Amino acid sequence: MENKIANRQGFSSGLAVFFATLGSAVGLGNIWKFPYLTGEFGGGAFLLIYLLCIVFVGLPIMLSEFYIGRKTRKNVVGAFEQLKPGTPWNSIGLMGVVASYLIMFFYSCVAGWVYSYVFKAIRGDFSGITPELANTQFASTINSPVWPIMWQVIVVFVVSAILISGVKNGIERVTKTLMPVLFILIIICDIRALTLPNSSKGFSFLFHIDFSRLTGPVILTALGLAFFKLSLGMGTMITYGSYFTKDNNMVNTALRVAISDTIVSILAGLAIFPAVFSFGMEPGAGPGLLFMTIPLVFSQVPFGNMLLIAFFVLSSIAATTAMISMVEVPVAYFSEEKGISRTKAVLINAVIILVIGSLATLSADGSSLLGGFTMFGKTLFDMFDFISSNILLPIGGLLIALFIGYATRKDDLKNELSNNGILRNRRVVDVFYVIVKFITPILLIIVFLNSIGVIKVS
Ligand code: TRP
Repeated sequence: MENKIANRQGFSSGLAVFFATLGSAVGLGNIWKFPYLTGEFGGGAFLLIYLLCIVFVGLPIMLSEFYIGRKTRKNVVGAFEQLKPGTPWNSIGLMGVVASYLIMFFYSCVAGWVYSYVFKAIRGDFSGITPELANTQFASTINSPVWPIMWQVIVVFVVSAILISGVKNGIERVTKTLMPVLFILIIICDIRALTLPNSSKGFSFLFHIDFSRLTGPVILTALGLAFFKLSLGMGTMITYGSYFTKDNNMVNTALRVAISDTIVSILAGLAIFPAVFSFGMEPGAGPGLLFMTIPLVFSQVPFGNMLLIAFFVLSSIAATTAMISMVEVPVAYFSEEKGISRTKAVLINAVIILVIGSLATLSADGSSLLGGFTMFGKTLFDMFDFISSNILLPIGGLLIALFIGYATRKDDLKNELSNNGILRNRRVVDVFYVIVKFITPILLIIVFLNSIGVIKVS
């Protein structure tokens, strides 16, 4: 047993743990989803609720997942099986695998759009762009029945190649090199956006709080975003936690990742909203927001096209490192529980993602090939997104919080989170325990009941 654990791959240092985990958290969630949801749901008020969700729901669940992963050193299904053999808790793992697929189906599609924008920027498609042209460019990008699928294939190919290289040579190496580059690029983009005429309007939109905008569905969406952002509720952080070093201070890692990730989201908002207002666009434009504004931000400035390329390169980096962490969940599960090789597990998953993911791509917009096909008023693309972010991730998170609060011995928790007493963080762990046992589950249940109309909070 010891031997098997020793042979299992893992990250090699604290820095590698930090960048890999941050690489999972930072993704299209920051650059694409956070700005368009904040725009749609009214700016500052949404941001405030989102931040509360990060503190009282996101952080405790992230730490819970780290605990489960590092204690067992197993994939998401194996981990629960080891902690509570033969109990219904094990279904959390399987549910996580299902959720990871639903997310990958649409995530790989949006990542494909981002890749294609790098290519378009290099080709010079955005020179002399106007707000109208930016709209048509985006519509034609996502409505073509061929090109978005081709880009999706490229995304899945890149992700698979990194995953086949392994945890250390693939995930660790790529995230450690690329995450710092991403930070630098986004700051350069912000400087440009904040020097646009009228940019202060965008600034105040992001930070001005209007409580009248807060309704049940808005709060549920903020909660869903918190899960999506920090890669929680489906075992990504259990899987990555299982690769952490023995001496990692997991409380610190969780805090640093959550804070850095939130900074990246706000930086992305600061690159996008000033442009929205500067060019008289609509902040509630929906999923196309990123693609329609960013080309305008950099139009008509010296080196604008270079900056544009830089922005979409950084978005591609973020999307790729996040997607890696999603696919790692079923890959670790297949290769450790089903006895197939890592390479085979990656290839099988690539095929599944492409076959079903292409249907998401073909339904991304009302005028796409399959866009007319809807269930409950949602296209297939929206359905994958809605079921995973707003239903499966919060339910997975609730079950994980209950598992830690009610099915885990507090001493086990204390030992693991303090690295067997080496770290002096007894107090912090006590606070965490109270939050995860009482506050997190209650908040999750209230938001749920409210969103399905059983109780009315707002
Ligand atoms: N956090 C990533 C983002 O913001 C997406 C992501 C990666 C994710 N792994 C996940 C979301 C697991 C939910 C669950 O883009």
